[in-house]
Amino acid sequence: MDHFEYRDATLYAEDVKISDIAAQVGTPFYCYSSATLRHHYRVLADAMAQAGLPDTLICFSVKANSNIAVIGTLAQLGAGADIVSQGELMRALKAGIPAEKIVFSGVGKTAEEMRVALTAGIAQFNVESLDEIDVLARVAQEMSLTAQIALRVNPDVDAGTHEKISTGKAENKFGIAWEDAEAAYAHAAALDGIEASGIDIHIGSQITDLAPFRAAFEKTADLLGRLRAAGHRITRLDLGGGLGVPYQKNNETPPDPVAYARMIHETLGDAECQIILEPGRLIAANAGILVSSVVRAKRGQAKNFMIIDAAMTELLRPTLYGAHHHIAPVEQSGDENNNDQWDVVGPVCESGDFLGLARSLPEMQSGDLLAVFTAGAYGAVLGSNYNTRPAAPEVLVDGKRFEIVRKRPNYEDMLRTESLPDWLG
Ligand code: LLP
Repeated sequence: MDHFEYRDATLYAEDVKISDIAAQVGTPFYCYSSATLRHHYRVLADAMAQAGLPDTLICFSVKANSNIAVIGTLAQLGAGADIVSQGELMRALKAGIPAEKIVFSGVGKTAEEMRVALTAGIAQFNVESLDEIDVLARVAQEMSLTAQIALRVNPDVDAGTHEKISTGKAENKFGIAWEDAEAAYAHAAALDGIEASGIDIHIGSQITDLAPFRAAFEKTADLLGRLRAAGHRITRLDLGGGLGVPYQKNNETPPDPVAYARMIHETLGDAECQIILEPGRLIAANAGILVSSVVRAKRGQAKNFMIIDAAMTELLRPTLYGAHHHIAPVEQSGDENNNDQWDVVGPVCESGDFLGLARSLPEMQSGDLLAVFTAGAYGAVLGSNYNTRPAAPEVLVDGKRFEIVRKRPNYEDMLRTESLPDWLG
């Protein structure tokens, strides 16, 4: 469910006309809906409460959309944050997420990042290797602190998703191998400066079937029993993110958060642990669109190309994963029977620069607006300045009002950090 809908054949975000935003902000831009963000957060929070899991902390995975206005909208609802870098930590704190609701994931935390996060007083480090355990223990000891850690264990479950976003198989770089988990907890228990009080898993992203989650959670329940039998005090289970969302309009039914929550209750409901969830896409994907203008329509011999002013630099997912995003004109033509097939492409000098292939669209004129849907997660965050394209601004809508929450840099801003060396000056 989202709050982007057509009224009188023109697209709205909540109560704001997309064309009004475009007139003020220029294109391309990302447009996020506060009501949709809130709705998605609440659906998951309510599902967990109703499934009998009231002790749940939902840590929004900041990597999916790290605009501080988006994080701040969720902070107001009580969300925590899942971060993977010092930069994301700074964003979460600036957006108003309390440090005690922040978990720090990622395979490559540096000692400096650990220090900064310990100083901030975050809730938990999700630790992925013996070396990381040792470094964190040493850093915490130096600071006379105790870090709460969860060991990220790799359950060797096939999430059935795109290979580039699958993380829970033995061949992936993430986590500690399942067979090594008990030894790793024993290793951690012997060290000062850390307390291994949690188990963490995350098997992948855009998972559209509950079965792999169930398999991973059942294994987690089993590991929990064995760890407790060995005397470890485990009080938190971090089940990661990964719930998929619909990208096609109307013909996809990814798992319902209610069924997901019930399944967590069935597999881990009697664990007597706080549950941490790290959803990113579920909350943000359908809360954002990318709005672009047609530069020109170019009819070719083999194909028709709709060249628009957004590109792989604003939405990399089609290029990187062959991902499908629904694309539609902001103003409906009312005569879809006359549509042709178009490849919707950007101006970037790469054949892989496309947003959609063989899409049924009306003939559009230069300046006409198009919306690329489901761009609220892994959209702006994966953006680049390739071809020296300025980052597209981000706009947040809330009811009748909207505000630019990241402005478009000008070319002076973009060149500010570069200089000619002395010998060329
Ligand atoms: N927790 C951890 C440890 C993660 O690695 C991720 C995502 C999440 C949570 C959030 O997963 P989500 O709920 O959003 O599925 N760029 C790719 C997605 C990469 C996901 C990376 N990790 C894409 O555009 O599909």
